Parts: sequence; C-alpha cells; structure tokens
Amino acid sequence: MTLAIIGGTGLTSLNGLEIERREMVHTPYGEPSGPITHGVLDGKPIMFLARHGSGHTIPPHRINYRANIWSLKHLKANCVLAVAAVGGIAEGMAPGRLAFPNQIIDYTGGRDHTFFGENLAQVVHIDFTQPYDRALRSLLIESARAAGIEAVDRGTYGATQGPRLETAAEIRRMARDGCAMVGMTGMPEAALARELELPYATCAVVVNWGAGLHGQSEVAMTQIESMLRTGMGQVRRLLTELIPKL
Ligand code: HPA
Repeated sequence: MTLAIIGGTGLTSLNGLEIERREMVHTPYGEPSGPITHGVLDGKPIMFLARHGSGHTIPPHRINYRANIWSLKHLKANCVLAVAAVGGIAEGMAPGRLAFPNQIIDYTGGRDHTFFGENLAQVVHIDFTQPYDRALRSLLIESARAAGIEAVDRGTYGATQGPRLETAAEIRRMARDGCAMVGMTGMPEAALARELELPYATCAVVVNWGAGLHGQSEVAMTQIESMLRTGMGQVRRLLTELIPKL
C-alpha cells in the first residue's frame, strides 16, 4: 500500500521523510506542480507532492489538478491523503482544529475538472455520492484519536475559486448551504481522484474563522500563519499513527 500525500499551504515538505528520489512526471495533461518525492516515512514507502509547488508559487486556480492526480496514479500510489488549510464556518471548527470532511460543495469555476472531457468512446459519469474514501476517513479518525488530537470527524467542505478570500455574505451563504469549512483546492482534486479510482480523503487544518464570523472585521494573515504551524505539527503526529495502519 503506497500512500501519496498532497501537501497544501504550510506543508511543502515532510519532517522526518527519508527522501530516496524526486521524479518529474510528464503527463498528457501537462506538468504537475513539481516533482513527486519518493521516500520512507515512519518505516513505509510514501510519495509526496507539494500542491502549490515547492516554493509555494502556484495559486489554487492555476494548479494543474489533472496532472497532479494523473502523476500519482501513474506512479502506482494506492491512496491519496490531501492536506489542506481551510477557514472554519461551523461551530467547533475553530482555528487550530483538524477536520476530516465527508461531503463537498463545489463553488469553483473554469478549472480543468475532468479526465472524461474529450476523446471518449462513450460518455462517463462517475458516482460521487460519497466523495471521500470511507476506509481512509475511518483510519484518519482512528489515528487522530490514538494521537490524542481533537479532530472534527465530518463536515461539508465548500470549495471556492480563490485566490481571494470570501466576503462575509458569501460565508453566510455557505453556512446556509451547510458548509462546515471553506478552502480553495478541494475541487476538482477529489473528483479527479475518483475518476482514476484512487481512494482519496482530506485532512483539513483550520487556520482562521471564515470571513465575518465571530466578530472579525478582516481575516488576519498573521493568525493564519501561526495556526498553520500549530496545525501542521498535529498533521505530522497524525501521520505517525496513520502510516502503520495502512
Ligand atoms: N477561505 C478559503 N480558503 C481558505 C481559508 C478561507 O477562509 N482559509 C484557508 N484557506
């Protein structure tokens, strides 16, 4: 079982990863965000890809999601853990928390969002009722418990286009829609993984309250940066529990 980790903002490398090699994959869809790192983490082989590029230079709407997912499939990853910073919307989604979403609402637009758009022998509609892999989500929930990390075990991830943050009214609308958290990279990544039959789950790291919530007059980048550091430390501890279970 080879896990591929897609690291988001705040996770461009993995502490303790013994790097074996870096591999650039050329895909029919163009270049992924960077080379895939092959290495050993806590005794198991894993792959790692920095979603925004190793220097964090690719904004959410410019990420080549198809090339990223295709590369991981091509290199024979068996499952994908997406790590992603989010804003909290629901009560309980306070900055510093980890969360494992179980649903998605897609508010993005204009992204290359499917492998089944051209050169088709026939039209393909994947089932996406449950967008995240149930077994991988269960392992994440168990691992957080074992690591003593307080994590929210479900919730709807609202994927926005970015790169700007939301208005207060957009966040209120997302709350009415039932979104528990908001991020910019969850889609089309999750759907593309499903199209290639790659089990996929997300570990969301809450780094701020959604715009306008809890009396905030603006979203402070300084808070985001400090919460990223706390949150990614917890992700690392979570991985130590998760990896032996795979
Ligand atoms: N909105 C969208 N994406 C995000 C946020 C947010 O508030 N925080 C981290 N990623």
